[in-house]
Order: sequence, then structure tokens, then C-alpha cells
Amino acid sequence: MAATVKHGINKLAVLGAGQMGLGIAFVAALRAKVPVLLHDRSPHQIEKGLALYDKLLAKDVAKAKISEADARGARERLSVVDSVRAFREHGADMVVEAVSENAGLKVGIFGELARELGADVILATNTSSISVTKIAAAAVPEGVAPASEEGQKSSGRVIGLHFFNPVPVMKLVEIIPGLQTSQTTLDRARAFAIACQKEVTVSKDVPGFVSNALLMPFINEAIMWLEKGVATREDIDTTLRLGMNHPMGPLQLADFIGLDTCLAIQQTLYQGTGDSKYRPSVLLERMVDAQWYGKKNGKGFYEYDV
Ligand code: 3HC
Repeated sequence: MAATVKHGINKLAVLGAGQMGLGIAFVAALRAKVPVLLHDRSPHQIEKGLALYDKLLAKDVAKAKISEADARGARERLSVVDSVRAFREHGADMVVEAVSENAGLKVGIFGELARELGADVILATNTSSISVTKIAAAAVPEGVAPASEEGQKSSGRVIGLHFFNPVPVMKLVEIIPGLQTSQTTLDRARAFAIACQKEVTVSKDVPGFVSNALLMPFINEAIMWLEKGVATREDIDTTLRLGMNHPMGPLQLADFIGLDTCLAIQQTLYQGTGDSKYRPSVLLERMVDAQWYGKKNGKGFYEYDV
């Protein structure tokens, strides 16, 4: 039975110290109490991530949600490493990749992970829309054909673990097995997400899975409504916030997720299905052209302090 399977993760590695990677490191170290190795090629991102990590712990202590000892334990369980190779040297038995939503980048990373890490290490991607099956096909050692028995075994340890932003707050992990994912990988990944105190759902590997295939057309439609001048940004958001009890309106949510991320997901949905209902709005494309990425860089549908 899946519920009785232990995750058996004695050391987790997280690749990418942006808002998602950092959040995943946080819930793993604090809630699942697993030692975490964090790597990001940008020292600036690591510095920002560590500052946020300390701030989140301090806030939970101040609100008496955790004790000083819990916070100290979570700090001690997190260490920064300077390469993917160091994941192997420090004995990671699961990696969660949380870099930006770019298929080429992820495929390259999973090739490297397969080269650097033993075949029993679970390789999870936090992709929000890209085919887990495609990423898994890249996770084979050099010279091994993905369709061979060895290739399928190597790809069988790859899985989609889709966390939601802000990770410490959002209660869901959407799990996406690729075509090659083994039952053991699925059971262990599920047990790990539960240890991080998350509810779990399982979706098929279709573009956008369940979450973003439903969310992104909603956000995109709101942007088109703004573009057409049907209502102001505030009135669109307030309608959904107060009329439907959403925590944020769709434009505010798009800024929160990141407009570049929303566009990347919408492009994956549109290309992956050919369905015009997923075509990104011109306004979203232009805002990303202008490098207005939302909350993370201060300008989206609204303005933010950065
Ligand atoms: N990181 C960590 N914790 C955060 C946070 C962040 N970035 N932002 C807010 N929080 C915490 C606060 O510290 C506070 O914690 P507390 O209960 O211990 O005090 C709690 O969240 C509530 O925060 P606030 O009182 O400041 O503000 P709100 O009540 O307005 O809640 C929110 C903020 C939780 C972000 C809420 O507005 C919300 O749920 N928004 C919708 C978020 C959402 O839909 N996320 C999913 C996006 S889609 C996605 O991630 C998938 C991807 O593939 C695109």
C-alpha cells in the first residue's frame, strides 16, 4: 500500500534557490526534518534565498508556530554546496530540481544529474507544465538508449513534484508520473511530500497537468478582459476576490506567479495541445517583452517595492 511506504530520504538536494527551490528546502528541513543540500549557480540567489530562509524561520518563531530549537534544527539541516557533483559527494538520495521553466535547461540538467548520481537516486522536477516524460528521457547515462532496459530503469526514478507558491503556505503537491516513472518512485515521492506536511494529488503527464491547464486559461482570459477594456485591473481582481472568495484576483495572482513564468506555461500549453484556448494574450507577451515580470522585479499589472 502506498500509504505505508517510507520515503527513505536521508538527504535531499535542491537545485535552484529561487522562491520555489527555497520553499521546498524550507519545508523539507523544517517539516520533514531531512538534511538539505542547496545549490544555485548564482551566489546572489543563494544569498537572497538564505536571507529569506532565516526570515521565514524567525517569523514562525515570533508567531510561536515553531520553537527556537525547531528553527535552529532547520538552520543546521540546510547546507549550501557549489556543484551538482557535490550532491553525490554528500550522499543525496533525492534531488528536486526547481530552476526556471525552460525545457532545454531542464533536459540538460537531468542529463547531468543522471551522469553524476547513482541509479537509485530519485530525480524530481518541480516543472509546472513541461512533459515529465521528456525530462525523464534525458535522465540516462551517456551512451545508454532511453528505450533500452537500462535507459527505462534510469528514467524510472524521475517524477514531477509540483509545489505551489508560497511553498511554506500552500498545502498541495501535485505529483506527475511520466510514462517511465516506476511505482517505487511514485510511492516514495508521495511519502516524502506527505512528510513535508502536504496533501497530494496525482495527475497524468499532459501539458500543464491539472493545475495549470485549468489556472492559466483563467489568468489569460482576465488579461484579455483588461486588454479589451471591459474593466479596470482593480475591478477585475476585486470581482474574483470578493465575488468568488479567491485569495487574490487573477491579475494579482499572475504578478505573484511571475508574468514570464505565466507566459512560459501558456506557451507550453498552446504548443503541446494546439488548442487556441491556450494562446497567450498579446498584452502578456508585450509585458514580458518589456521585462515586466510582476512582483519579483517590481512591475507587472501592479507596482511593487523590490
Ligand atoms: N513565503 C512564505 N510565506 C508567505 C509568503 C511567502 N512569499 N507570503 C505570505 N506568506 C505567509 C505569511 O507569512 C502568513 O503566514 P502566517 O499565517 O504565519 O502569518 C500567511 O502566508 C498569510 O500571509 P498574509 O497574512 O501576509 O497575506 P494573505 O492572507 O493575503 O495571504 C497568500 C497571502 C498566502 C499569498 C494568499 O494571498 C494566497 O493564498 N494567494 C494565492 C496564492 C496561490 O494561488 N498560489 C498558487 C500559485 S500557482 C502556482 O504556484 C503553480 C505554479 O506552477 C504557477
